[in-house]
Amino acid sequence: MEQELSLEYLRVVERAAIACARTMGLGDGHKADQVAVEAMRAEMDTVGMDGTIVIGEGERDKAPMLFIGEKVGLASHDRHHQYPAVDIAVDPLEGTNLCASGAPNAITVLAASEHGGLLHAPDLYMEKIIVGPLCRGAVDLDAPPEKNLKAIAKRLDRKVKDLVVTVLDRPRHEKLIADIRKAGARIRLIGDGDLSAGIAAAVSDMGVHAVMGIGGAPEGVLTAAALRCLNGQILGRLVINGKEHRERAAKMGIRDPKRIYDTAELAPGKKIIFACTGVTPGGLLRGVRFFGGGVRTQSLIMTLDDRQIRFIDSVQIEKGAHDVRVRFY
Ligand code: FBP
Repeated sequence: MEQELSLEYLRVVERAAIACARTMGLGDGHKADQVAVEAMRAEMDTVGMDGTIVIGEGERDKAPMLFIGEKVGLASHDRHHQYPAVDIAVDPLEGTNLCASGAPNAITVLAASEHGGLLHAPDLYMEKIIVGPLCRGAVDLDAPPEKNLKAIAKRLDRKVKDLVVTVLDRPRHEKLIADIRKAGARIRLIGDGDLSAGIAAAVSDMGVHAVMGIGGAPEGVLTAAALRCLNGQILGRLVINGKEHRERAAKMGIRDPKRIYDTAELAPGKKIIFACTGVTPGGLLRGVRFFGGGVRTQSLIMTLDDRQIRFIDSVQIEKGAHDVRVRFY
């Protein structure tokens, strides 16, 4: 399943990225998200799968498409063939505001697995700590930042002052930021996008050694899918405030709201495919580049079962454009 579908998912994330990249810098996050969702949804229906959205744009009454439970793929309109059943998690535009303002690191994202391979996370916040392969098993979500930073530094054979931690720039992180600074590590504050930051933390030479703080739970599951492929680790715990949150979590099948989830509990699938395409230029992926007669994109496609990690540079030439020269990178 993985080999065939991974290239089909590449088309899906590329098409969504190209669509929303046209809205970059227009200051309209709603529009950016809408075109990404529409493009992703349309391309998904050309994929040979019997897909079910498990993480999407929210419940049916809130989202007109890519809602939780929605059927996607060729199976939804071709009853004559059998297609593989897959669970799908999407973030059609991670970093809506980044795209709207032309800031770095907006990406389009899709993860897939066999049925049951991705936790059905409610659209709540999640406390997270994310590290790369060398630090797997060294961190503890309940430990103070200083202790985690010492453990990370030890695994990376460097001093705490040589570490960089990415944190979402939010008032709720005031104490976390102060604690990290007090411990002596450096910080990269980001406006949005803890999913792409989490992937970057698991890739060597990105200059980031951990991501800490509270972000979206759906992004946590998508991060886990990517980290299963990259051998990194995410620890996450839902932020449950009050009865309404508890009920929403229970509705999604979460029995213990205080549970700390490890990577393979957030994304337990044996056959995971993760695909993302850069929308705005970023550290991990280049953004969408339009040129006279075509468009160029950069994507990351990973498959867990056969351990493939591919950075894919694609050029699409417009129909009817005959004199386009493709540049070497
Ligand atoms: P979008 O996909 O909605 O653009 O989310 C961006 C993001 O920054 C995520 O990366 C992060 O997990 C979440 O929003 C944080 O939520 P909030 O902006 O409410 O702090």
